[in-house]
Amino acid sequence: MQLDIDITGKSFVSAAGKPHQVLADISFSLATGEVGVVVGPSGCGKSTMLRILAGLDPSYQGRIARPAGARLAMVFQEPRLLPWRSVEDNVRLAAPNADDARLATLFSVLELNAHRDHYPGELSLGLARRVALARAFAVEPDFLILDEPLASLDDALAARLREEIATLVGSRPMITLLVTHSLDDAVRLGDKLILLSARPARLLHTLPIAVPRAPRDEQAIAAIRADIVRLNLANSSGPMDPDGQRQ
Ligand SMILES: Nc1ncnc2c1ncn2[C@@H]1O[C@H](COP(=O)(O)OP(=O)(O)OP(=O)(O)O)[C@@H](O)[C@H]1O
Ligand SMILES: [Mg+2]
Repeated sequence: MQLDIDITGKSFVSAAGKPHQVLADISFSLATGEVGVVVGPSGCGKSTMLRILAGLDPSYQGRIARPAGARLAMVFQEPRLLPWRSVEDNVRLAAPNADDARLATLFSVLELNAHRDHYPGELSLGLARRVALARAFAVEPDFLILDEPLASLDDALAARLREEIATLVGSRPMITLLVTHSLDDAVRLGDKLILLSARPARLLHTLPIAVPRAPRDEQAIAAIRADIVRLNLANSSGPMDPDGQRQ
């Protein structure tokens, strides 16, 4: 299965009636088993692109070839849980066919067991993000879209959740596309880095990461990190802190 993206333009019309170009030329492909990591400056159009790829926004120029019949799950930039449903019900509603054993594994991997009966209003942002991840993985997607799933979490929690995402992504064949501002996410989770320019976003580079994700050791990670920083600085798009700190 393969996802082929060839966007040539996307504009919004402002309240004053003026066109506001958000996306220019972006084309890349991802195959099953691959994790694409999208980086680009804040406001460049990443979430807009993800909505287009998810089929939520049909008004753009270009072509997207999604694998036929692919089951899609998306983790939005904000967790978007149903406030009047418990954590468990939020997940079950999204994935009515998920069996109890599967849900138990997910709740346990994402450390949500103590929160099954809580309501979204009772959760911290970090917990709400984990519920959004559980909901996405419960669907057993063929195509998973993650929009800054680890943003605004402290470094320790982000690192733990990153490992959990890596475990879940590695647990079944799917196409994954993740947006992040964190160099750590890119080097530890990605198979292909997709570097976007400032708005209107255009593709600056795709950087395939040859070393497979699972056996990537600290030395390989340092080399990948240096490549990314070099590319990033060469393009002065500045979406990432070279120290890998979260923004
Ligand atoms: N529904 C909309 N109507 C009008 N303009 C929009 C709409 N959605 C996004 N935009 C504009 O498109 C541009 C890109 O927004 P988008 O949310 O895609 O950026 P982003 O790269 O995801 O940013 P961030 O890193 O801050 O999440 C912004 O200028 C934004 O104001
Ligand atoms: Mg965004």
